[in-house]
Amino acid sequence: MGELIAILSGKGGTGKTSVCAGVATALAQLGEDVLCIDCDIGLRNLDISLGLADSGALSFREVYEGNYDLSQAAVHPGYPKLRFLTAPVSCSPEEINTEAFGHMLRKARSQFTYIFLDAPAGIDAGFRLCASFADRVILVTNSDPASIRDASRTGELLELMGKESVRLVVNRINPKMFDTMDITVDDIMDQAGLPLLGIVPEDEHMVLAATFRKSLLESTKKGAAAACRRIAKRIQGLPIPVSL
Ligand SMILES: Nc1ncnc2c1ncn2[C@@H]1O[C@H](COP(=O)(O)OP(=O)(O)O)[C@@H](O)[C@H]1O
Ligand SMILES: [Mg+2]
Repeated sequence: MGELIAILSGKGGTGKTSVCAGVATALAQLGEDVLCIDCDIGLRNLDISLGLADSGALSFREVYEGNYDLSQAAVHPGYPKLRFLTAPVSCSPEEINTEAFGHMLRKARSQFTYIFLDAPAGIDAGFRLCASFADRVILVTNSDPASIRDASRTGELLELMGKESVRLVVNRINPKMFDTMDITVDDIMDQAGLPLLGIVPEDEHMVLAATFRKSLLESTKKGAAAACRRIAKRIQGLPIPVSL
């Protein structure tokens, strides 16, 4: 049975979509069957981070309404094992039929090893949609006080929802800034009150890849791409040490 992984954060813009795309492509490269679902209804952009901008991918709503089958989900040209469903544009998260969405996810579990749900920012309907179905949660934070506080608050909410497997990814790490701020990754874990899944450095390739319509891993093997590969291997259960 496949595993459902929700990518969440309290604060917007911490890099959920970028990390989701990086880790999902890394798992597909490692030979896993992966489905990525953009759940940021209205503000979708996972297609851009995957290097699939404007590819005309099916939306998850078109699949759960039964007009299309999961097997018709867009296939990534660079990663044949990676499939993608975009978010519907013309509806609100409250209009999503949760039961039908859940039914689609149950089907997806029998066809994929990992299913990623790229959530919107905040803790509203889109957050709840993703969190409620997740087997594990990746909370993406940056190292600034506001995103750490929001990650901590989101972690508490997830605990109240009974979510046990919640791990932190600290994104956009800049060692110089860490020195100036006199902060360490351990401090961030302590303040957020969550265990660490991985760290991702600040890397211009995140922006460059999207600009040139490529995924991060097609654009570079170093920096953030290498960090996402290490996170992917940890998700597979391999004992990969945390380092930049
Ligand atoms: N590690 C990183 N290094 C540099 N830029 C990054 C990094 N992670 C994300 N970004 C940039 O930050 C912005 C927000 O990222 P995004 O993944 O869309 O965040 P979210 O999904 O949380 O809103 C994007 O412009 C993205 O390119
Ligand atoms: Mg996003």
